[in-house]
Amino acid sequence: MTHHTQQIATIGLLGLCALAGLASGCRGDRSDKPPRQFFPDMDDSPKWKPQTRTDFYSDHRSMRPTVDGTVPFGRSTSPDEPGRADALLDDVPFFTGKASDAKDAPAVPMIPARVKVTAELLKRGEERFNIYCSACHGYDGKGAGTVGVMYSVPPANLMDAKFTDRSTLNGADGHIFDVIMNGWNNNMPGYRHSIRPMDAWAIVAHLRAMQKKEAGTIDQVPEAERARLMQSKPAAAPAPAAKTEGAK
Ligand code: HEC
Repeated sequence: MTHHTQQIATIGLLGLCALAGLASGCRGDRSDKPPRQFFPDMDDSPKWKPQTRTDFYSDHRSMRPTVDGTVPFGRSTSPDEPGRADALLDDVPFFTGKASDAKDAPAVPMIPARVKVTAELLKRGEERFNIYCSACHGYDGKGAGTVGVMYSVPPANLMDAKFTDRSTLNGADGHIFDVIMNGWNNNMPGYRHSIRPMDAWAIVAHLRAMQKKEAGTIDQVPEAERARLMQSKPAAAPAPAAKTEGAK
């Protein structure tokens, strides 16, 4: 290789390096210039940012006011809670358990009518109760769950008469709904982050079923069913008669 050809090769190499540098830009360097776009595709889709000026509309506002006479329209997130009311959360008793959105509105005594208390709903309520409540309140709702017995404040016995009378503050369906969603006394946490309104009502319905069962006596069972019930008792269990005398 002569001296001359070596020089040419060196210059050529330098030139290539410079080109490569130009094409790749300098990664990490800041620049006020627009970035090079080899495939712009949808990088620059036309849009207006909120609160900015536009010449398209005569009032020059990029944000458009709502059209007179229209209301937000339903975008339901669940097949069992359809409709416009849900987009607006404007079914106050259903979403809050309160009679109205006045500050001191009382809790509704009964589960709102739109909640259809079916066997399916009760099953769902039982399942949700077992997942979210039983740890503290126990599967039977009496307050002695695995966590409950070690909890700093004893969880309420939900079978207590205090929670069965719908006409009192603590016994109202809407109150129990509210406790499920928002917690109670800073001692019980709220579960609105994971329990949907319909499921909270299902839990209330399940609690009512448990309370009814708890207060029930054998003579409330239809006669035909009674025999079957007795038969299904395990042989070792105490005589059913002795047990029912104690209750009520
Ligand atoms: C982490 C433990 C814990 C869990 C889980 C829990 N609770 Fe409680 N709950 C408590 C405690 C503790 C109290 C008693 C608070 C007090 O008396 O100050 C209570 C009280 C209540 C009350 C009584 C409110 C009143 O008016 O006195 C109801 C009703 C209730 N819980 C329902 C539920 C339901 C339904 C669930 C499931 C969605 C649930 N709780 C989950 C701890 C828990």
